[in-house]
Amino acid sequence: MLMEHTCTNFGMDKQKFPGDSVVTGQGQVNGRNIFLFSQDFTVFGGSLSSVHAQKICKVMDKAMVMGAPVIGLNDSGGARIQEGVDSLGGYGEIFYRNVMASGVLPQISLIMGPCAGGAVYSPAMTDFTFMVKDTSYLFITGPEVVKAVTNEDLSQEELGGAKAHMTISGVAHNAFENDVEALLQLRYFLGFLPLSNKEPAPIRVCHDPSDREVPSLDTIVPLDSTAAYDMLEVIYNLVDDREFFEIQPKFASNIIIGFSRMNGQTVGFVANQPKVAAGCLDINASVKAARFVRFCDAFNIPLIILVDVPGFLPGKGQEHGGIIRHGAKLLYAFAEATVPKITIITRKAYGGAYDVMSSKHLQGDLNYSWPTGEIAVMGSRGAVAILYRGKEDVEKYEAEYIEKFRSPFPAAVRGFIDEVIQPSTTRKRICYDLALLSSKQRKNPTKKHGNIPL
Ligand code: HXC
Repeated sequence: MLMEHTCTNFGMDKQKFPGDSVVTGQGQVNGRNIFLFSQDFTVFGGSLSSVHAQKICKVMDKAMVMGAPVIGLNDSGGARIQEGVDSLGGYGEIFYRNVMASGVLPQISLIMGPCAGGAVYSPAMTDFTFMVKDTSYLFITGPEVVKAVTNEDLSQEELGGAKAHMTISGVAHNAFENDVEALLQLRYFLGFLPLSNKEPAPIRVCHDPSDREVPSLDTIVPLDSTAAYDMLEVIYNLVDDREFFEIQPKFASNIIIGFSRMNGQTVGFVANQPKVAAGCLDINASVKAARFVRFCDAFNIPLIILVDVPGFLPGKGQEHGGIIRHGAKLLYAFAEATVPKITIITRKAYGGAYDVMSSKHLQGDLNYSWPTGEIAVMGSRGAVAILYRGKEDVEKYEAEYIEKFRSPFPAAVRGFIDEVIQPSTTRKRICYDLALLSSKQRKNPTKKHGNIPL
């Protein structure tokens, strides 16, 4: 609490503040331990002195010993310029601890003011980065340096505001209206998570019957196979009390990720969204979902996967952007995950995306399809164009193809689908299966670590 910086450069020895530019400590949220730090912008712009870094490292080390989450309330201009390498070294110590704590403790960053330099890289290594709209910014270098180097004239908001990071960069996992709302949402969010990878997520008493049938799901998939519907509505209908904490709701919205509860137990949802780009997997969607799957796997949170995907998004932009290596991240993440994995194909499961979306072949524990399931190498038009190139009667061939593949039964006959289920019974199934899978004990082969295609 009383630590002071030790810098003597630039007359700094005459400007000391008890505690320097960060407040650190431990406390409880809803009776559960957390460790946290809160940067104080009123002291040298919240910039990181070596003492500031020592204080953060101290709470991170304690958190590792106790097994409790680390929360950062970030508001900092980055490395304290006057301290030179002492400050850079301080960041290095924090980064190292971020990495060591990754997969051991949940680490959450709430950005509450302008953050630059090291003050963005530490949050980037935490599991979730939340922002406050209109008052928080994240950039490696601020507008003044950008102007000097690239001659671009940008406001802080344009360069690194919540809007940019929620919709374009994908750096922010969510953004809230103001500081109070952000802190309340952070407390609410913590309720979904375990304290560490050694602890189960808290079970909440559930008043929403686990065997509740949902008749509306029987008709939610339109008869026209190309028509859109809202997968979020499917999720809200399945989960306890329609409560769903969505992560990155405005970035790559062709895939939905987020936390919810089923019969009181925390689950992670990964779901294609047919309403956006027909639910295609693209670069951003793959990266977004892969990281989420790895978080859930690291912290023993079961995964529910809802599949309606016409394939990977074709085109030069995606190919040249590296869809091959980025798409492989999601494939890798699902294959590597050993938590309970329950997959429901609601409609399309085409091509590579069928395999990727936690198929039986990647050791999905229970793989269901609704009767509206369609599982094939590709859509009818593309398939006929290749198989019957130059032929007339294209419609006839397409109809034949549709007749053969617009059904989940060829997959079910081969055991790739465990059961074709009535949509209205899906909640009941998932709740039952989660209880069954609670004793799952699959382990991957012993290794130093795999080599996910980063
Ligand atoms: C020392 C700093 C500081 C810093 C801000 N201040 N950043 N002091 N070191 N890094 C001080 C300012 O001098 C000012 O002091 C006060 O904090 C408030 O700053 P303002 O600029 O007036 O605030 P604002 O206009 O809101 O702008 C905030 C800001 C800007 C966008 C963060 O301060 C800024 O661009 N700072 C530099 C950011 C940066 O480039 N950091 C990178 C460091 S390198 P007075 O006395 O006037 O109130 C780094 C590398 C780490 O972090 C390793 C990464 C891998």
